Amino acid sequence: MKIRIFKDVKAVALYAATITEFVIETNEIPILGLATGATPVPLYQELARFHKGGLSFQHVRTINLDEYVGLGSTHPQSYRYFMNEYLFHPVDIPLDQTFVPDGTAVDLAAECCRYDDIIHRYPLDLQILGIGKNGHVGFNEPGLSLQAQTHVVKLSQDTILANAKYFSEIRDVPTLAITMGMQSILQAKRILLLATGFDKANAVVRAITGEMSTNMPASLLQLHQNVTFVLDEAAASQLSFHEATGMDVIKQA
Ligand code: F6R
Repeated sequence: MKIRIFKDVKAVALYAATITEFVIETNEIPILGLATGATPVPLYQELARFHKGGLSFQHVRTINLDEYVGLGSTHPQSYRYFMNEYLFHPVDIPLDQTFVPDGTAVDLAAECCRYDDIIHRYPLDLQILGIGKNGHVGFNEPGLSLQAQTHVVKLSQDTILANAKYFSEIRDVPTLAITMGMQSILQAKRILLLATGFDKANAVVRAITGEMSTNMPASLLQLHQNVTFVLDEAAASQLSFHEATGMDVIKQA
């Protein structure tokens, strides 16, 4: 595991965008796994800036981690809408090369199978992740078990509360989502987990140095051969370098 600690959110975004650019430029058909939420927004802004400077997304395929059940592409809080807004429209990617689960599918089980087929067809070169304060990745919530493949998940109360800020009322927050499973995430060739802000510091330290447990889904990343935690100083504030001994840690001077 690699840990890269930067002074601020902007530096985190620039580092992650530079790695994404490298993946795009060194693969004939680059396949990116993408996350939504507040954390990757500065990364997508950087990528839009890189695009203005000449980086093309024409050959890129993207596969998003998750989507709320019940929200369609025109709902401003749907993850499809978010991706169109922050990344897909600002760059030159053909929309039919971008995949987000369909939260309005009538048959959700069939939609999960359809999504797994897409994931098998396009093995991920790079997976971008955020992390929930409760340690979730995608919407793989802490619990007694985790699922390998794409599935419908009941969102935890913590997640509903964390996401309530984006809706006018808490009762508007969907309680179900479709999420990629842990196996699909762990099959990515390379993973960048981005975390910024003090409110992520505890989840970050538990994911990196805590015991691997389904109660802390991000701790399963310890199994991956090529994972980098890209942190700002606030998110890294509970990491003791003593505990991280043996890990590849670099802190921006
Ligand atoms: C979203 C996702 C979630 C978020 C996590 C952190 O696609 O997969 O796991 O990454 O909830 O969200 P923010 O970045 O809003 O704190």
